[in-house]
Amino acid sequence: MKKLKLKKKVKNLFILAIVLVVLIAVSTTMFLKYQKEKEYEKTYEYKLLDIGYEKNQVNDILKTFKDKEIDYILTKEVSNNYLELSKTKYFIYDKFYQYVDYLEKNKNKNLRDIVEIVNTNTDKDYYTDTTKTDIDKKYLMLVNKYHYLEESYTPESLVSIPPTYSYGEYGSQKATEDTYNAFLNLWNASHEAGFYLMVNSSYRTYAEQQEVYDDYRRSGGEDYADSIAARPGYSEHQTGYTLDVFEKGYSQKDFETSDSYNWLKENAYKYGFILRYSKEKENITGYSFESWHIRYVGIDAAKVIYENNITFDEYYAYFVK
Ligand code: DAL
Ligand code: ZN
Repeated sequence: MKKLKLKKKVKNLFILAIVLVVLIAVSTTMFLKYQKEKEYEKTYEYKLLDIGYEKNQVNDILKTFKDKEIDYILTKEVSNNYLELSKTKYFIYDKFYQYVDYLEKNKNKNLRDIVEIVNTNTDKDYYTDTTKTDIDKKYLMLVNKYHYLEESYTPESLVSIPPTYSYGEYGSQKATEDTYNAFLNLWNASHEAGFYLMVNSSYRTYAEQQEVYDDYRRSGGEDYADSIAARPGYSEHQTGYTLDVFEKGYSQKDFETSDSYNWLKENAYKYGFILRYSKEKENITGYSFESWHIRYVGIDAAKVIYENNITFDEYYAYFVK
């Protein structure tokens, strides 16, 4: 009888032990699961899904953006613009907040315009936030309404352009040696095509640019002057990489109606030149269309600029800087 009771007790203890083990196992599993869920809730994937992004968008965001930008995106309403922006041609990651800021103020603009405007600084007024340009970039240096040259800057290797190709006395027209050599190739090719290009203006000192600008300002006021001439220090002519050319027998003004201009427009890039101030990019360059103003940037850059129809300002921001 006593033996039977003991056996029952052992049996009960055994059952209790099993129940305890099962209970511990179940609660441990539940706890681990809970912990895993809590951990998952801390991830960007969870947070992005939680505010309403689709799974594929989340994957794209995680692949495209760094933590700081994802934190920012999480503070905003769900929008496809962030991803679309990042896929827009010439998107520069470091300018992300500038794009977003400009987009918020200009909701009707398309994303490519937003990227182009921010890349070229034109989200800011001309002649604000100006910086001294990096002259070490040589023929790829950027001089525009935000990047200037010091008054003392003179190009290293200026050579004279002979009167065969330029107006004025010998010695009055100058360009850097690489610009001049490239121009000779351009000139020869244009001549073979039946044209005769003449250089009307080339290297200008800071003081000469001051005169050019002041003349326009005196005759038409500051806005007028700013639309056609650079303020001293801000002219590409001071770099020595720029030439104003037009066909012999044409005036600067009507050059754009000539076959020679059409040839130049389609061929200059092959020799390393770009038409710097085009009609369709006036809002970016800040200058009225100049059919005659060509800039030496080297064949590689000129080709990219020509083929993609971008300004040198944007090329510089994306490829050079
Ligand atoms: N006309 C061009 C913009 C200059 O003055 O440099
Ligand atoms: Zn010019």
